[in-house]
Amino acid sequence: MQRILVTGGAGFIGTNFVHYVLNHTDYQVTVLDKLTYAGNESSLFGLPEKRLTFVHGDICDSALVDSLVGEADAVVHYAAESHNDNSLSNPLPFLETNIMGTYVLLEAVRKHGKRFHHISTDEVYGDLALDEPQRFTEHTPYNPSSPYSSTKAGSDLLVRAWVRSFGVEATISNCSNNYGPFQHVEKFIPRQITNIIDGVRPKLYGSGENVRDWIHADDHSAAVLLILQRGGLGETYLIGADGEKNNKEVIEAILVGMGCSADDYDHVTDRPGHDLRYAIDPSKLRTELGWTPSKADFAAGLAETIDWYRNNENWWRNQKAGTEAKYFAAGEQLHVPDSLGLQLSPTIHGQGA
Ligand code: NAD
Ligand code: DAU
Repeated sequence: MQRILVTGGAGFIGTNFVHYVLNHTDYQVTVLDKLTYAGNESSLFGLPEKRLTFVHGDICDSALVDSLVGEADAVVHYAAESHNDNSLSNPLPFLETNIMGTYVLLEAVRKHGKRFHHISTDEVYGDLALDEPQRFTEHTPYNPSSPYSSTKAGSDLLVRAWVRSFGVEATISNCSNNYGPFQHVEKFIPRQITNIIDGVRPKLYGSGENVRDWIHADDHSAAVLLILQRGGLGETYLIGADGEKNNKEVIEAILVGMGCSADDYDHVTDRPGHDLRYAIDPSKLRTELGWTPSKADFAAGLAETIDWYRNNENWWRNQKAGTEAKYFAAGEQLHVPDSLGLQLSPTIHGQGA
């Protein structure tokens, strides 16, 4: 394998994967990215120019995709509309990119006979009860809840059909919640870190009992590279690092890690249809491919991530006001559970926003 085409390589996880591949292999990388509000070409600045080609374009553009797939040995497909809250306000781009874009890529890899790896999410499985002992496995039935997760489920099924009907050489991975550098400030962890930097109280949806299974983006990248190199064709692998935490624990850890009081946050309107708990059983990836996470210490990874946002304000500052305006326009409001009494100050320690 010499050249990998990475779709969505200017987004959060795609960027981390491109950095990882250029640091750990001698492959050439072509990034195809539409640079939506979530894409940022500057995330790729400083990488070796001789090994990285950036193409600004849409995965729904079949002529462009055909020519780029023709030049690559393998495709790793990250490009997507990725944010659940946005999918509730406006589902259409999710159908266009996540379903139609994946279809266009599949037709191109089918025509050119190229290896394809499809990046997906644990959200395709719906959610678990808090006390459920069984975690998601490769055999859990699909049961997506949101427009976002249903389009990701649809794209997974397209890949499976192209493998079975047309013999496309593809693998799929379904990963849990990623965190780390270069994540857009609309997402939970960077939203709260950048709120605190701005002196604004973090925002917790509903009661905060919802559980996510956190994994560092570098561990996700290592797993994807391994699957690309050694995964069984037609196989699905779940990627997770045994990182279950509820949102309240995470927000408290961010506050304490940034020198604030653990209870200095606001409860806000809950997300409609909010999945309660995700949890991955990564046994197949561990036993069949020998993968283990190297950044499974969440406290250490969170501290490193907080430092990254403190040191890279230039990267995120121009996303921040528009993101918060979007949450406001979507109707986010303070919501005080009766048991907590009134805590309505919007700023931390009375600092201005
Ligand atoms: P992101 O929103 O940060 O980045 C998405 C990237 O795709 C952006 O650079 C954007 O410009 C690009 N893009 C969007 N539409 C495009 C189009 N039509 N053509 C070309 N490029 C387009 O997303 P992310 O969090 O990095 O997620 C990447 C992938 O990983 C997605 O497929 C997502 O479903 C999956 N995933 C994410 C997580 C997570 O925790 N963030 C977990 C598991 C799986
Ligand atoms: O599980 C994998 C999925 O993880 C990926 O497929 C998605 O692309 C990715 O966005 C992520 O989805 P979530 O909806 O879990 O991530 P988000 O960062 O939006 O929210 C994480 C949790 O935090 C969720 O329970 C909602 C909650 N939340 C989120 C925001 C933005 C808050 O409590 N407050 C907030 O301000």
